[in-house]
Amino acid sequence: MKTESNNQRGFWGSRLGFILAASGSAIGLGNIWKFPYIVGENGGGAFVLIYLVCIFVIGTPIMLAEFTLGRKTHLNPVGAFASLKPKSAFISIGFMGVLAGFLILSFYGVVGGWTFAYVVKSITGSVLSFTTPKEAGIFFGDFIGNTGEALFYHALFMSVCIAIVLRGIHGGIERACDILMPTLVIFLFLLMIRSLTLDGAMEGVAFYLSPDFSKISANTVLIALGQAFFSLSLGMGCMITYGSYLSEKENLTSSTVYVVMFDTMIALLVGMVIFPAVFAMGLEPAEGPSLVFSVLPVVFTNMPMGHIVSVIFFTLLAIAAITSGISLLEVVVAYFIDQRGWERKKAVLIVGAAIFAFGIPSGLSFGAMADVKLADMTFFDHVDNLASNYLLPLGGMLTAVFVGWVWGTQNAHAEIEKHENKFKFPWAQCWEFLIRYITPVAVGIVFLAKVLP
Ligand code: PHE
Repeated sequence: MKTESNNQRGFWGSRLGFILAASGSAIGLGNIWKFPYIVGENGGGAFVLIYLVCIFVIGTPIMLAEFTLGRKTHLNPVGAFASLKPKSAFISIGFMGVLAGFLILSFYGVVGGWTFAYVVKSITGSVLSFTTPKEAGIFFGDFIGNTGEALFYHALFMSVCIAIVLRGIHGGIERACDILMPTLVIFLFLLMIRSLTLDGAMEGVAFYLSPDFSKISANTVLIALGQAFFSLSLGMGCMITYGSYLSEKENLTSSTVYVVMFDTMIALLVGMVIFPAVFAMGLEPAEGPSLVFSVLPVVFTNMPMGHIVSVIFFTLLAIAAITSGISLLEVVVAYFIDQRGWERKKAVLIVGAAIFAFGIPSGLSFGAMADVKLADMTFFDHVDNLASNYLLPLGGMLTAVFVGWVWGTQNAHAEIEKHENKFKFPWAQCWEFLIRYITPVAVGIVFLAKVLP
């Protein structure tokens, strides 16, 4: 079953390619769609500070642990745990990860479809005729509630992910990210210049950078930690899978630092695009999840050069969604290639189609199936909630426990130091302490706070 030399697996062509792909996985709707609205709802700068602490104290150590597990075993999450502790219950961490990848992509693909649709709608200019967020919100609601249109774009998004992953690691995922990630950065800088040069932009900058600590509660800390996880693609073996295509020469610690910095920088810069623009137009930052789809169209309608700016913005959003979507698909595909011996082509087509099919009820949750609710939540809400609030934190905590206590930091250390890559004092000791004590306890608290009523 364990097929280290499986020729269907693949490899990264270069260190830069790997870093771009892993950053592409991390940088996604979480950074561009979710981060700005939760900052808006939770007191601006104060929330940003807490988020940064979570990223560095909890996210970074787990990412290094995941890369190390992947590079050590050259296997998917299930195979990785199975080969280090055969026949143990820890293998279920791997299964949970593969399941989480399947579930997250099933609804992520729906939102990915919305971003594709908004690229088209911004080109035709149909999202640029609104004077209030309410009007733009109605337009958005009509679109996502339209079964045919929503399904069409959902299918389109999944087809693009499938087409990229079919071409493998080096020729597909890495190639796509080599082009898409630099494009994303250039677009983001263009948008930032436009946004910061609007009249009244500085009010938004002030909101973003000056902390309002009165808005901070225990719940805010939990939200920040959950966001750190989702944003860094942690807790489901995505980084184990990407790490499994690395060669022994690669420096795991510096790769981790680059990916974390890149992801964090993009999230922070997106705030520098959105808040100045929202404030300059006299709109509300605390609009919730509709911030991007119903407040920004009004901003674009009113700003000079708004048409081209809107096309750039939604293209950026679509790019971010694709580079994350392919990483989610790859986790499930890698499982079938390594553990079941499937060919890549067969795995990608079957897994991709199954994820799309399972995602259909999520896609219909805003229209035809909006009234099909269990405990007041739609199908979409349930899948999102199960994966993001339960599987990811649980997976992250157990991964930390596994590396810290079961496989052992000694072994991890040896893997990290292969090929004269030194993991020096005090960083190594610091990481060891965080992964053994701080990470499991902190994530455990978040997890319990969510599970307990
Ligand atoms: N990190 C991605 C984002 O911010 C989402 C993601 C989560 C991707 C888990 C892969 C694994 O949108």
